[in-house]
Amino acid sequence: EKGGFEHFMLKEIFEQPSVMHDVMRGRVRLEEGRVCLGGIEDYLDRLKQAKRIVICACGTSWHAGLIGEYLIEEFARIPVEVDYASEFRYRNPIVGKDDVVIVISQSGETADTLAALRTAKEKGALVMGICNVVGSTIARETLCGMYTHAGPEVGVASTKAFTAQVIMLYMLAMALSKGRTISHDEIILNLTELADLPAKADRILNLDGQIRDIAERFKDAKNFLYLGRGYNFPVALEGALKLKEISYIHAEGYPAAEMKHGPIALIDEDMPVIFIATRDSTYAKILSNIEEVRSRKGRVIAIASEGDKEVARLAEHVIYIPQASGPITPLLTVIPLQLLAYHIATLRGCNVDRPRNLAKSVTVE
Ligand code: F6R
Repeated sequence: EKGGFEHFMLKEIFEQPSVMHDVMRGRVRLEEGRVCLGGIEDYLDRLKQAKRIVICACGTSWHAGLIGEYLIEEFARIPVEVDYASEFRYRNPIVGKDDVVIVISQSGETADTLAALRTAKEKGALVMGICNVVGSTIARETLCGMYTHAGPEVGVASTKAFTAQVIMLYMLAMALSKGRTISHDEIILNLTELADLPAKADRILNLDGQIRDIAERFKDAKNFLYLGRGYNFPVALEGALKLKEISYIHAEGYPAAEMKHGPIALIDEDMPVIFIATRDSTYAKILSNIEEVRSRKGRVIAIASEGDKEVARLAEHVIYIPQASGPITPLLTVIPLQLLAYHIATLRGCNVDRPRNLAKSVTVE
């Protein structure tokens, strides 16, 4: 059942290239220059006219939502807010009929997310779901929605469901942009990049041995800092969450520029800092953030784009991933971070599939 892998989590990480194909199948119509999202087709016009989109979710699904915010705002130019479902539901939130509320949930059963969806519905918002489990409560109660088709996720730490959610949000951003905010040619370009993704993800999985070696060196660290900017800021949060939940090492994710507003005080020779430093619009800025950490003797592990020379000059370890444009990178950069968390946890003897105190779906608040 684990398909030859030692743990479900590792199997699910390695399934990601094929899951990416499954998520896109029948939806990405490259020749036609469009995406076809059956579950929301009838509502697409209303979605495009939304004054605002609010995304509600918990945990890893909330991180996917943050990437969704960047994607939808960049391409579709519709204002997006991302909220923890647990905060949204108790805040008497200001939402109404001009708003679209998107709830994201792998299990489709998370209590807070379900309650947020019911609140949004009562207030007259159009509610849309992005769920993995078919027929789940959230999927049934939303007006429209899409399934991620990532297949059953058994490992408690969410991996393939996350990449599937982000691809859904990417496709949604394209659907909302078409005929409005981006040209046909741009859509073709973006969809081509999306279609190239599984092959790139596959190449990253080949780095498993290198990542395990890095894990070996850092497995006894007491703390980790994860830093990224733009599209990779939510990936920094996700990388830190993965490490916390399965290895029980304290880790924090931050937008890299926020470092000097506090976390920089933590940096010394015992602090590993993971930088996501791919070649996109935030690259130059992140290089200077790496220098700041280096000059305080922090130990830098960087995720960089293939062909990059600058990062190697500054970092102790570099994991090179295939080049991709900014909006696509989170789908690639997250993979080495999943593997790093996995290896650190297994090297420390932790039960990665069933970490302590955690349940696969949180059906109580
Ligand atoms: C992290 C993790 C949790 C879930 C969260 C939401 O690896 O698994 O943070 O992401 O409990 O669950 P869903 O997506 O099922 O609503």
